[in-house]
Amino acid sequence: MHYMTFQVAISLLLMLFQGLSAQMSDEILNKVSAPAGSVTPVYKAQEFAFDTIKGLTKKQLTDHYKLYQGYVNKLNEILALLSSADLSKADNVTYSQVRGLKIAQTYALNGMLYHELYFTNISNRYQPVEQEDEDEIVYEEDKSVAQPGPLTRALIEKNFTSLQRFKDDVLATAKSARGWSVTGILLKDGSVSNYLLDTHNEYVPAGVLPILVIDSYEHAYMIDFGIDRASYFKVVWDNINWAIVEQRVQDIQARYPELFPVQSQGEDDSSQLAVPA
Ligand SMILES: [Fe+2]
Repeated sequence: MHYMTFQVAISLLLMLFQGLSAQMSDEILNKVSAPAGSVTPVYKAQEFAFDTIKGLTKKQLTDHYKLYQGYVNKLNEILALLSSADLSKADNVTYSQVRGLKIAQTYALNGMLYHELYFTNISNRYQPVEQEDEDEIVYEEDKSVAQPGPLTRALIEKNFTSLQRFKDDVLATAKSARGWSVTGILLKDGSVSNYLLDTHNEYVPAGVLPILVIDSYEHAYMIDFGIDRASYFKVVWDNINWAIVEQRVQDIQARYPELFPVQSQGEDDSSQLAVPA
């Protein structure tokens, strides 16, 4: 078979397979029905400003986005199946339908959520500038989001003593992870740490709210960097939108003010910032 003809045939087969897969998922979603009165959430993939990320190609980011969409779709499928699962057969720790679905649930849920946090916290620090030569993209940095905000800086200084120490720790975590580095605030005491996850649902700390997430999976960089992980993590660090991180800390402060006791003015110059106990 001529090479081009062969390629066309393969493409048609792939399209048919993908179409069937989508149809199968739709059929599963339509077939299952939640018990009366229960509500099964249905999630939609978010959009992200990938054109504002400097140093990662469109191909790298759009392929990564397809994986993210897959987690969203699978989560919806899993939740629909769980809503009608036969709970009476869930009596075995080796296998049951419920066991399989429950494990898949956290994998897909965290796969969705961590990607949303990651894509958001590396977007919009740069803006592409209109150029006649489309092959060479020129970016303009938004300096207002290029440094940690006051609340974030106070947290970093309290928990890591310096921004440099924090940077070393978060990049060491990301480089050591097979899945994610998650910087989060522990609800128990307001402390901040960088947590290492090997998969979406492996080594996830309880009671930690993420403020900065870095994807360490190979799929996040292999197209652009091959096995040059150091260059990828430099790009990620240089794209961090600190205004997004600051907003997350502010949101946590609004919901859990007890973690951010306000010190009396004059006690300490740095006490103008509300920092965790
Ligand atoms: Fe990823």
